[in-house]
Amino acid sequence: MQAKKYSRTEFISFLGKVGLGAAIAPSFLVACGNNSTPILEDLTNDQLNKLKDFVLEHLAASDIDDLLLTNGLNYSTLLKWGDKISDEDSFGFNCDFTCFIPLDDDNPKDGLLWVNHEYINSLFVSDYDYTDINQARTIAQVDKEMYNVGGSIVRIKEIDGKWEVVQNDPHNRRITAKTEMSFNWDTPIKGASIAIGTNNNCSGGITPWKTFLTCEENYDICYGESVYEEDGSVRHIDSFYGWEKYYDYPPEHYGWVVEIDPKDGKAQKHVALGRFAHECCTLFQLEDERVVAYSGDDSNDEHLYKFISSEPNSLKDGTLYVADTENGKWISLDWETQPILQEKFTDQTEVLIRVREAAKLLGATELNRPEDIEIDPITGNVFVALTNNKGKGDFHGTILKIEETEGAYDSLTFESSVYLAGGEDNGFSCPDNLAFDLSGNLWFTTDMSGSAMNIEDGPYMPFKNNSLFVIPRFGEDEGRVVRVASAPRDAEFTGPWFAPDGKTLFLSVQHPGEQTSDLNNPTSLWPFDEDNIPKPSVVAIKGDLIEKMNQLNKIEGKV
Ligand code: FEO
Ligand code: CA
Ligand code: CA
Ligand code: CA
Repeated sequence: MQAKKYSRTEFISFLGKVGLGAAIAPSFLVACGNNSTPILEDLTNDQLNKLKDFVLEHLAASDIDDLLLTNGLNYSTLLKWGDKISDEDSFGFNCDFTCFIPLDDDNPKDGLLWVNHEYINSLFVSDYDYTDINQARTIAQVDKEMYNVGGSIVRIKEIDGKWEVVQNDPHNRRITAKTEMSFNWDTPIKGASIAIGTNNNCSGGITPWKTFLTCEENYDICYGESVYEEDGSVRHIDSFYGWEKYYDYPPEHYGWVVEIDPKDGKAQKHVALGRFAHECCTLFQLEDERVVAYSGDDSNDEHLYKFISSEPNSLKDGTLYVADTENGKWISLDWETQPILQEKFTDQTEVLIRVREAAKLLGATELNRPEDIEIDPITGNVFVALTNNKGKGDFHGTILKIEETEGAYDSLTFESSVYLAGGEDNGFSCPDNLAFDLSGNLWFTTDMSGSAMNIEDGPYMPFKNNSLFVIPRFGEDEGRVVRVASAPRDAEFTGPWFAPDGKTLFLSVQHPGEQTSDLNNPTSLWPFDEDNIPKPSVVAIKGDLIEKMNQLNKIEGKV
């Protein structure tokens, strides 16, 4: 059965305007991002009227090297690459997923920020010119690179309306490519129960028990990949960074979902969720406290997965499924019950390590690069950004909607539909990270690759720099795609995350100046500090526009 397709102008119909009466259940908010019950003030009529009068303005596409915001928004730079977070540690490179957990549920203005550091640009980080094939990396260069990936835990506080880093707070620490972490699995992975480090931490998620999830995406660029041949031999494909020359770690130790305890930084890799280019991991907790975890494999023609735990609050005991979106079925990847898997693999551990092959054997649907996944706080439907698949002629991307049967997240059947999201009619291309705010408006970022943007006569020319958009769900602007921020040159916005009171949007600015080939002449200078080089950074965005969007359901009287 072909999934229903919605045109670019049918966003509201696609989203579904169903209200669930008292609507926004806190448990949905666990799933959609913010882990504490939203702390929204009751506004006076005057305040509501002021926000109601505020006009949402569309920011024009721009190729200017700056972070531009539409009317009603302002930003401050919270953390830049290289900033000290403690006497020992500094903030890593290419920030991606952010999430915030208050230390005390009653105070949304003091808590721990997690930030992914996805990958490095060696020109900036280790002074290694990757365009010169005659130059070999030294171990000192590799060590610098390994320090600059992984993630950061940083305590931040909002003081007089401005977010600030709490320097040297005992929670502040780095997780890097050298941090030891265990596998949450009873069978060793390539002979080991401990892995060294995490890398390519792209997007992530949060658990109902208040820990961070960080997802290993393009892990093969660090230590390469193993190819399992039909004759039983294993072939190694070299990595792009060449770290395996000095650190010969098995590729099988990477490509997992990693959980970090914010309190002590303890990390573990969740084998049960499978090994692939994990973009994100979005959790929902069932009434009996079992969890459902959705995760997409962001590579051309790869798949969408969901794990359903058999025990409360477990990311180990349970079954992994892969989506057949054509027939609306979740296909089990359980070795015990799938004879096709028994023919090819020796046990469940091998299935999970080589889960892409297992998924294809069982007829999973090939998708156009699943990126971020969010659960709509209003309808409970699951949204997956399919960013593009140039090989299949999809340059601008779509959004996939999964409606689980009877709204049950542990259902093994579903209906799917597709919104033709990107394209000139809507003014954006390549949707990537998604975030719902407290009124259920959809915010999203785009990721056109740095080398393809602003190229004359190229498919991405009309869209100029990558941007942040919002699509209001109610009111006079409902269904309109509004650009609210434009990124510095070559950059992509990543990791949008609302503070629990809904008044701040944390956002990463990843890879500004990525196309630089000469350090003395970088293609971007943002954030314009004294070092005169571009620096990936996290910003805190505030303003009337965010406040209006968060109150839109009240202003419009819809909930
Ligand atoms: Fe790291 Fe799929 O974005
Ligand atoms: Ca992404
Ligand atoms: Ca998200
Ligand atoms: Ca992307």
